[in-house]
Amino acid sequence: MLTTYKLSTIHCTNIMTFVRVPGKVILFGEHAVVYGKPALAVAIEKYVYVRAKRRSDEEVHITANDLTIKGVHVVMGKKGLIGAFVTGDVRHYLRYILKAIEIAREYSGVEYGIDIEVKSEMPVSAGLGTSASISIGVLYACLEEFGINVSKEELARLGWRVEREVQGAASPTDTATVTHGGYVFIQYEGENVKVERLDTSLELPLIIGYVPRKYTTKEMVEFVRKRLERLGRIGELILDAIESVTLMGRKYVLEGDLQGIGELMYVCHGLLAALGVSTRELDEIVHAAKTAGALGAKLTGAGGGGCVIALGGDDVLKAVKAKSVIAFRTNVDFKGAIVLDE
Ligand code: PMV
Repeated sequence: MLTTYKLSTIHCTNIMTFVRVPGKVILFGEHAVVYGKPALAVAIEKYVYVRAKRRSDEEVHITANDLTIKGVHVVMGKKGLIGAFVTGDVRHYLRYILKAIEIAREYSGVEYGIDIEVKSEMPVSAGLGTSASISIGVLYACLEEFGINVSKEELARLGWRVEREVQGAASPTDTATVTHGGYVFIQYEGENVKVERLDTSLELPLIIGYVPRKYTTKEMVEFVRKRLERLGRIGELILDAIESVTLMGRKYVLEGDLQGIGELMYVCHGLLAALGVSTRELDEIVHAAKTAGALGAKLTGAGGGGCVIALGGDDVLKAVKAKSVIAFRTNVDFKGAIVLDE
């Protein structure tokens, strides 16, 4: 059990473990993966960094000194600090951090305290897997600090547990992808998870555009469940079509066929729109990317806002930027979660 935690502005000196975990985007198969269909996701070169140092007492100190994570409210009285309150994004991520520390302690059987510092290069709640990256990063850094060697399979499994215990339900897609890096083909039913890291070093001319999300992943998954119930056979056909797209996408990734991947991205966006998870803003980004000559574009993740991915050059980046709140180019990360030298 955790004893105490404090949000503090502490120490980066004498830090023992430094972990880097990529973000991810889903290329094909979001939503369908919840119904036992495969998904294909890829890790990206946008990172969460976690520093950890074991303490001699049992306290847990967490620093999230990051301008991309808003939500700390500090109250100072005449005699100094009265309290620090966390809201919004910080509270959201704190739950993952605390759960990851709890599971790392339980797994390793130790009760050491720990100093943790988390930094994220990614916008939060955008569908880039930030909560998975934070969960995996904190687990990995804690286990290293506690002297426990853990395989990537085991790390991904523990990270999935963190996500499920915090959210109530989660697919293993994000945690597997950010742990292993590269292209990850995944299928699961209940506890039974099949993960295949595709044997390719294919680079993608990947552009990401972000608009704020109106709904959480949980709400979008629930929305789709109700819609599928209403659609009946039509819903089944949409899920089957997404499955075929994902399987063909896997083949194109292995063959390095960017044209083919791009074409399937447009198809996948149409199918996700048919499920009702696109928005006018997301459609407009996809349309702008297409007009600028993108090989492909689609919403990625749960939808209802969030991110669009597109394949293309500078004209496409410019077009995506014009319709997004944040837009950037990124590459595929092939390393996954790693321990860095300071
Ligand atoms: O937007 P994200 O990264 O939370 O992705 C959600 C993907 C879904 O398939 C909609 C849900 C899931 O758990 O796989």
